[in-house]
Amino acid sequence: MLLQTTPNTLIDLSRKTDGSQDRAEFARHVAEGLSQSPKILSSRYFYDAKGSRLFQQIMALPEYYLTRAEYSLLQRHRSAMVSAFAANGFFHLVDLGAGDAMKTKLLLSELVEQEKPFDYVPMDISGSVMQELSKDLQQSQPDLHVQAVVAEYILGLEWLEQHLTERKVVLFLGSNIGNFEREEGLEFISQIRRHLQPGDLFLLGVDLAKDPATILAAYNDASGVTAAFNLNLLERINRELGGNFDLEAFKHFALYDPQQGVMKSFLVSQREQEVYLEATQERYTFAAWEAIHTESSHKYTLPQATEMGRSAGFEFVTSYLDEKGNFADMLFKAV
Ligand code: AVI
Repeated sequence: MLLQTTPNTLIDLSRKTDGSQDRAEFARHVAEGLSQSPKILSSRYFYDAKGSRLFQQIMALPEYYLTRAEYSLLQRHRSAMVSAFAANGFFHLVDLGAGDAMKTKLLLSELVEQEKPFDYVPMDISGSVMQELSKDLQQSQPDLHVQAVVAEYILGLEWLEQHLTERKVVLFLGSNIGNFEREEGLEFISQIRRHLQPGDLFLLGVDLAKDPATILAAYNDASGVTAAFNLNLLERINRELGGNFDLEAFKHFALYDPQQGVMKSFLVSQREQEVYLEATQERYTFAAWEAIHTESSHKYTLPQATEMGRSAGFEFVTSYLDEKGNFADMLFKAV
């Protein structure tokens, strides 16, 4: 469905019309996750309106170094990145999970300043976020051609393969890869590769393995914003699925495993209890101190991330790091 034509376009590939399909799928996932042992809920459900607001606050926390590190590496290397992207003429700059494109805007202004020929294709699951970004860019970069796409990753990748005819440079920034389990992350990057042509480029943002204390603090901040972000998942279940979770009876717990390179977040039941969901008309029981795994945030060494890109069918080109070596944007080329 084409919603708007001039001068920027907004293409909406989201399936639902009234959200009912979404709600049914959410209910199914929650029912499955709470019925199994150990219990699990998917971090993809963190991002309702309240969760997205809390995530914005997380990104500004003193402990959450990731966003500042990636922003600073983009400032530091944007000129070199832009030269690498534009070395072979016109290209489509595809931004997977673009959000408000806060970091990508550094690259956009550099590309415009250097008068490189390209168009910008941000993709995100949130229609309102893509509408806002499209409007915002129309004002701040009136000469830039923007085709914003509202879609889940896989549908978006299929669309770009069918509709974008020129060379592509795909961005997957922000350590979003970290929220996939290791094998799923590799499978996702392989999927991206399958939708590209030899010569297309892929820029992957990875949070690098570092002092476990630094990582742990980033997911267990002193002001409790990350705890609220995690607990919002239960609030969302209460709001959208008619749950009766007592938020006081659960606590946020985060731990980092330096051997596996994974940060894991949990919601721990502080007492034995039962929770009822209207959407499924089922009860779910919790033993005292039983935990729900809600998120994994994987950290990579440079060799591990290079290997992941290679295994997915890319050739490693170079990596751009911030001055502290906390975060890397790694450039790969499809072969
Ligand atoms: C979106 N994602 C990369 C964040 C992360 O670091 O895993 C989400 C997050 N969870 C807790 N804090 C931030």
